[in-house]
Amino acid sequence: MEYISHNLETTNEVAKEFLKTLSPLRGRATIIELIGDLGAGKTTFTKSLAEELGVEDIVISPTFVIQKRYNITNHPHFKTLIHIDAYRFETQEEIKALDLEQDIQNGENLILIEWPSKIQNHIPESIKLNFEHMNETTRKIWW
Ligand SMILES: Nc1ncnc2c1ncn2[C@@H]1O[C@H](COP(=O)(O)OP(=O)(O)OP(=O)(O)O)[C@@H](O)[C@H]1O
Ligand SMILES: [Mg+2]
Repeated sequence: MEYISHNLETTNEVAKEFLKTLSPLRGRATIIELIGDLGAGKTTFTKSLAEELGVEDIVISPTFVIQKRYNITNHPHFKTLIHIDAYRFETQEEIKALDLEQDIQNGENLILIEWPSKIQNHIPESIKLNFEHMNETTRKIWW
C-alpha cells in the first residue's frame, strides 16, 4: 500500500488502515520498523496509531527516553504499545537495557521502532513501514 498524506487527518486515516492489516502472532510480539528521515513523520504516525488503539496517555517522542510503554485499551488482542527510538543508540549495553528480547516473546505487545537500523541485529521478523518527507505538509507513507 502507498499513501500520500497532505495533512494530519489523512495520516490518522492511514494509521487506521494500517492497523487493520495487522494480524497478531501467537506468543510473539508484532514488530513494526518505522523507516524514514528526521521529521518524516514516524512519531506522528505512532501517535495516530496510539489514539486508534485507545491509548489514553499522551504519546511523546521517545528520543530522549529511548523507550515508552503505553496501555492499549481498544484492541481485541494487543495490550501494550512499546515505542522505541534507537536514534541515539551507540553501545550493545544500551540495547540490553531495553529488555527487548523479553518484550518480543509477548504476543500482546505491539512494538514500534524508530531508527531500527541502529539495532538491526536485535530485530527478528518485522513489518517495515516507510515515511518520506515530500514537502512541508506532504508525507508519503507505504508498506
Ligand atoms: N501530512 C503529514 N503527516 C504527518 N506529519 C506531518 C504532515 N505534514 C506535516 N507533518 C509534520 O511533520 C512532523 C513530523 O515529525 P515527527 O516527529 O513525527 O518525525 P519523526 O519521523 O519521528 O522524526 P525523528 O526521526 O526526528 O524522530 C510533525 O511536526 C508533523 O506535524
Ligand atoms: Mg520521532
